[in-house]
Amino acid sequence: MSYARITGTGAYLPEKVLTNADLERMVETSDVWIRERTGILERHVAADGETTCDLAEAAARCALEAAGIEPREIDLIIVATTTPNRVFPSTACLLQARLGIHGCPAFDVQAVCTGFVYALAVAEKFIRTGAARCALIVGAETLSRILDWSDRSTCVLFGDGAGALVLEASETPGVLSTHLHADGHYEHLLTVPAGISEHPERFRSGEATVQMKGNEVFRMAVNTLGRMVTEVLHANGLHKSDIDWLIPHQANIRIIKATARKLGLPMERVVVTVDRHGNTSAASIPLALDAAIRDGRVQPGATLLMEAFGGGFTWGAALVRF
Ligand code: UT7
Repeated sequence: MSYARITGTGAYLPEKVLTNADLERMVETSDVWIRERTGILERHVAADGETTCDLAEAAARCALEAAGIEPREIDLIIVATTTPNRVFPSTACLLQARLGIHGCPAFDVQAVCTGFVYALAVAEKFIRTGAARCALIVGAETLSRILDWSDRSTCVLFGDGAGALVLEASETPGVLSTHLHADGHYEHLLTVPAGISEHPERFRSGEATVQMKGNEVFRMAVNTLGRMVTEVLHANGLHKSDIDWLIPHQANIRIIKATARKLGLPMERVVVTVDRHGNTSAASIPLALDAAIRDGRVQPGATLLMEAFGGGFTWGAALVRF
């Protein structure tokens, strides 16, 4: 059976930057509060008319170039998103058409902030079983479209962006293990409480926005991610010191620091982008990975732990040899 190896990464962030100072003019908040409670300094916001697929395409083309792959070589496309362009077709199908390719399976995965880990786990299984040889996985979000810009408890937290990677069959590892979990009993703590089928009138009138009991989500995230770290190490027979880089979902610097402490990793070994990107949900891990590969921090042979926690609740991790 083949392993699945990351052979290229890419990223795209919309041009418009919204700083904490900008938000101070929109809601009753302060730069100090946002920085101290979240670690966020600024985030990117898609322009009017700029869609999740636009962001996904830019990141995907960047990843294909890094991998030295032509679009026609892709035989699987998975897009992790909670903010798809349309009800249907899936953003993955729209992306396939943009890339000018035909026939390969293309579908979206919806696991909110854990979406990218879910997509990576699914793609890895396709490759390990021989069902695919060259997968394109994208995490892409335009969360700005589902925020209530008058609610200071949520609008300061999120940003837009996309990250992508190419995963290819290889005789050497590769993705070492993936770990996926969910518990739908917590759906009320982090939700957009309306949609196509439930309260469609609120969905149609644009009232369907992110609602979060931040403090409760925070506590669950810290505890759950701590357990996740132990699960990954145990499953692979590894010690904390075997992890070279933590590439976490970027929701809050305090959550990231708690996970790093659990791993005994100094913050110099943790990739942090939450300061500049905010929480980009499914896009945050591939954006962080791409940043650390391009600036030379993550080198071939490094052991990477990616982890995420988000709405659902969903949570998961991937251990990867780069
Ligand atoms: O990615 C998916 C998973 N999501 C997460 O992991 C997010 C998890 N949660 C968090 O990151 C944090 O809970 C928040 C950053 C959302 C909030 O931080 P907190 O330390 O948990 O604050 P809090 O919710 O307990 O609120 C503290 C105070 C409240 O005022 P009172 O009731 O103490 O007077 C809020 O009203 O801060 C107030 N507050 C704000 N103040 C200024 C809430 N939002 C703001 C704001 N600016 N933007």
